[in-house]
Amino acid sequence: MRNILEINDLKIIAKKRLPKMFYDYVDSGSWTETTYSSNEEDFRKIKLRQRVGIDISNRIYKTKILNTNYNLPFGFSPVGMGGMMYPDGEILAAKVCEENNIPYILSTMSICSIEEIAKNSKAPFWFQLYVMKDRDFIENIINRAKEANCKALVVTMDLPVLGQRHQDIKNRLSAPPKLHFSHIMQLLKRPSWCFKMLKTKNKTFGNIIGHAKGVNDLSSIIEWTSKQFDQGLSWSYIEWIKKIWQGPIIIKGILDEEDAKIAKNIGAQGIIVSNHGGRQLDGTLSSIRALGKITDKIGDDLEIYFDGGIRSGQDIIKALASGAKTVFFGRPYLYGLGAYGQKGIRKVIEIFKKEMDITMALCGETNSNNLNEKNLYQHEQ
Ligand code: FNR
Repeated sequence: MRNILEINDLKIIAKKRLPKMFYDYVDSGSWTETTYSSNEEDFRKIKLRQRVGIDISNRIYKTKILNTNYNLPFGFSPVGMGGMMYPDGEILAAKVCEENNIPYILSTMSICSIEEIAKNSKAPFWFQLYVMKDRDFIENIINRAKEANCKALVVTMDLPVLGQRHQDIKNRLSAPPKLHFSHIMQLLKRPSWCFKMLKTKNKTFGNIIGHAKGVNDLSSIIEWTSKQFDQGLSWSYIEWIKKIWQGPIIIKGILDEEDAKIAKNIGAQGIIVSNHGGRQLDGTLSSIRALGKITDKIGDDLEIYFDGGIRSGQDIIKALASGAKTVFFGRPYLYGLGAYGQKGIRKVIEIFKKEMDITMALCGETNSNNLNEKNLYQHEQ
């Protein structure tokens, strides 16, 4: 991996190694993908303030969130079908997070189940919940997350309906996938991916199959999922979830300061400022622009996290300086996973750590907890 210097290098290799439908599933957004691209573009508009003549030896990145000490101010966002990027992808990702003492968020729509992750990683991970209509399923999955000693429940609020993603429609990729002739052609072009995949038993949605009523195989899960996203999802549902969970709740998918205030008032411990990586409301604000608007208005008693568009250590520094306590990212680690499996994820962390460290040093800072707007020039419009 000598010539892998930035996330884009891993992205190029992931594209060569993954079946097209799975690569496209990651590298795409909804409709025109305007929000997807502005997530990255708006980072470029923020300029870092260089400072010189400051002793920058001994730099610190440790952070404390949810009363827990982590080694670095970043973690992994929840992503569906991580286990299709590489066999046992979610287990590998959780293990790398454990090695680095950073937070890992497992998705409801993961391939490996909550129990598989708990068996393979000692560090308490966070669990992301999609709110489904089937309340028995929700109650049961929250209890499974409790049993697995999950640290926090991350409730995704920005998916009461699915944003239309043209790449997935063109590739006939449904969630979960339904095998079609064009898929077989794509798989034939990636024999090495297929051989590796044959070796794992984790090939379908481990959190759902065998746990939702009447869902015991791939065909029943297709029908179940298509009917389950709850358009009636309202804040009162969170009260019900809180009673079952009784632990820290993080609300994911906040872009508006009014919603941030509601999340705070209902007693959430944190929010993730996020537009779902540009996969839901196309035409809305980039995550980084939304972050600035929210941190201005919300006080310290709600922890503010961020995801969307992070592709470098410089982006991490910019998001921390814009008010995020910790940042998360999805696609970068999926590219690492798709390119080289566990080694690829480790490489992502190595790249981010190095970029973040040199960037912070050149900004004249020694502690990532002290980054704030003084380290930035304003957004260019
Ligand atoms: C996601 N995201 C997501 N979010 C969530 O709450 N549950 C999920 O199952 C998924 N699944 C998912 C799959 C894929 C392939 C992607 C790219 C994203 C959104 C994710 O948690 C996060 O908000 C974005 O990935 C952040 O943007 P970046 O870091 O990918 O630019």
